[in-house]
Amino acid sequence: MKVTVVGAGAVGASCAEYIAIKNFASEVVVLDIKEGYAEGKAMDLMQTASLNGFDTKIVGSTNDYSKTADSDIAVITSGIPRKPGMTREELIGINAGIVKTVSENLIKHSPNVILVVVSNPMDTMTYLVHKTTGLPRNRIIGMGGALDSARFKYRLAEALEAPISDVDGMVIGGHSDTGMVPLTAHATRNSVKVSEFLSEERLEQVAADTKVGGATLTKLLGTSAWYAPGAAVSGLVQAIACDQKKMFPCSTLLEGEYGLNDLCIGVPVILGKNGIEKIVEIKLSDAEKAKMQESAAGVSKTNGLLEL
Ligand code: LAC
Repeated sequence: MKVTVVGAGAVGASCAEYIAIKNFASEVVVLDIKEGYAEGKAMDLMQTASLNGFDTKIVGSTNDYSKTADSDIAVITSGIPRKPGMTREELIGINAGIVKTVSENLIKHSPNVILVVVSNPMDTMTYLVHKTTGLPRNRIIGMGGALDSARFKYRLAEALEAPISDVDGMVIGGHSDTGMVPLTAHATRNSVKVSEFLSEERLEQVAADTKVGGATLTKLLGTSAWYAPGAAVSGLVQAIACDQKKMFPCSTLLEGEYGLNDLCIGVPVILGKNGIEKIVEIKLSDAEKAKMQESAAGVSKTNGLLEL
């Protein structure tokens, strides 16, 4: 199993590290345009192998896509991250050109690759990859919901004063401060609905804190977060590499599911060796459906800024 990670910045490097530590891939290629940078990150990570007990070979490459040849899965983290006060949508101008070039280069050297898109604005970048590569929709996966759901579980555990392993919950919708739809009514602690333990107001606060999860960290760190994004990507990559048939909310091209068409947005999917093997349509309340529609309208508006 060969995995490529494009972009050796904080998210890309964290992604490569978690994939290596989980020890399911034979090789991870990290590629960056900055001379020597990916090679440096790869060497530093390789020097953790004996300490962290993994056998994954990590290789760095300065923009030489021949090194990525025959990758099974490739993760696109390239582009600029947001700065404090910026929305993910503001990155579209610079990142669209980068993501288009990167995906074309990847497919040229790995025609059967499954692509995981992380660059922001993620739902729109995932849609752009669909529009420009023509790959079947099961092979293009946008990473957002897995991360947002992890942040949701963190906030739920905090409110419940419970360990995170007691908590389950999911965030669907667009990966944006306004577009996320944390499914508070479905969230549970040990299969008991969290609404049994938390007031409506507290749950609304949990949802609000979840939606600005990335922005809160960007303000604290001065740049976009990387540990949870890297861990979330590694979970998706492992589910595909190990054919786990696990369910994650991911951004995928909808063709009528959830009453939506011609956009990529976060919904629950089953991930296995073919990438997205199934889109899971869960029953939503009228209020949740309305939030999904509003979220989709936001994503479509950003998609309209693409020069396709
Ligand atoms: C975040 C970036 C990865 O939410 O979108 O941290």
